[in-house]
Amino acid sequence: MSEDLLIIHASELVTLRGPERARSKGEMSQLSIINDGAVAVSDGVIADVGKTSSILKDHGATGTHRIDASGKVVMPGFVDAHTHLVFAGSREFELELKAKGKSYLEILQEGGGIYRTVADTRAASQEELLRQSAARLESMMAHGSTTIEVKSGYGLDKAVELRMLEVVRRLNERYPADLVPTFMGAHVVAPEFRGRPDEYIEFVVSEVLPEVARTNAAEFCDVFCEKGVFSVDQSRKVLMAGKALGLVPKVHADEIQHSGGAELAAEVGAISADHLVRPSDDGIMAMARKDVVGVLLPGTPYASMSKEYADARRLIDLGVPVALGTDLNPNCWNESMQFTISLACHKMRMTPAEAITAATINAAAAIGREKKIGSIEASKRADIVILDIRGHAQLPYRFGTNLCSAVIKHGRVVWERVAR
Ligand code: NIG
Ligand code: FE
Repeated sequence: MSEDLLIIHASELVTLRGPERARSKGEMSQLSIINDGAVAVSDGVIADVGKTSSILKDHGATGTHRIDASGKVVMPGFVDAHTHLVFAGSREFELELKAKGKSYLEILQEGGGIYRTVADTRAASQEELLRQSAARLESMMAHGSTTIEVKSGYGLDKAVELRMLEVVRRLNERYPADLVPTFMGAHVVAPEFRGRPDEYIEFVVSEVLPEVARTNAAEFCDVFCEKGVFSVDQSRKVLMAGKALGLVPKVHADEIQHSGGAELAAEVGAISADHLVRPSDDGIMAMARKDVVGVLLPGTPYASMSKEYADARRLIDLGVPVALGTDLNPNCWNESMQFTISLACHKMRMTPAEAITAATINAAAAIGREKKIGSIEASKRADIVILDIRGHAQLPYRFGTNLCSAVIKHGRVVWERVAR
């Protein structure tokens, strides 16, 4: 049989072979590595996986494009489970405010933060929004991200929320990476509704959500459940309304203070609860019981100059399947899952194997894609990164540079390091 692409002689082929679901506890440490491994790809799909000698015997017909991955790690493309990729402008000026001790919520309440980005995003045309977001997307792909969740939430009115989701749709068409859209109209109370959060929630539920659902613009519905932003009751209203329209709930939960977000995520049957810097033990256990994926975003405390990171060890010990995301947004301009994996190990004491599981199969589960992507197994989509390192433990260890040698999406090389 002749195949489209053979990747051979990987020093470590990190397959993550296992059940088609999020991995928890000890399962997160099992990478199922094949030394001198090879992958055969046909029609964008993984056809076979094994030792190079046996793959060459079964699939080594001439005419096949071959990549020699000697001395390199081959693993599933990164899945970035949480981003705010689409926005206009930037907020580097906040760095100084943060350095002087201003908190994230103080900057927000003074009209900066998300409000600043809402103003910039509303002022941008769809083309401009597309152009600025595309530049970030290209960089994310160059760093190995092959599937990326993207939220709205900088429009906070009907037209601009829909414009953001339209930009996600156009980027998805234009670029090989798969983008997964989430509606997050309840990111903060829109400036027009300041001081009237209940009325804003009512507006989101009755005016915006139905249009998002009617146009099939999003798969998930997310809300910033946080003291000083949206209460548990307000968050529940949005999530249940979204669910009734077919949008699967997600929650920005317990990011800054304990707000009951983890409990809410379990209660409404959310696919994930994200951030989780200060969840209660009850919330964590409720998540574990309901198989809610915990998406951790260590770029955010890093960018917020906070010393407090999510307690990944406790979440894993109590049985929550942990995933990772960059949380790319104007407060945390992090385009790299490689850096995120490094932060996960250095700041949250995840092991390299756990962090890799969190950035691939578990991140896929956080966006409902665990049966299609996230591991290198026959019949899964051929989304693969080749890293210029000899072993997977070097991935978190060597931070601050791009370790990608090639990025393969759907069986096609979409980015390659050019030797000079
Ligand atoms: O996930 N916490 C709320 N939302 C984003 C930040 C958005 C922003 O600051 O622009 C987050 O960190
Ligand atoms: Fe976020």
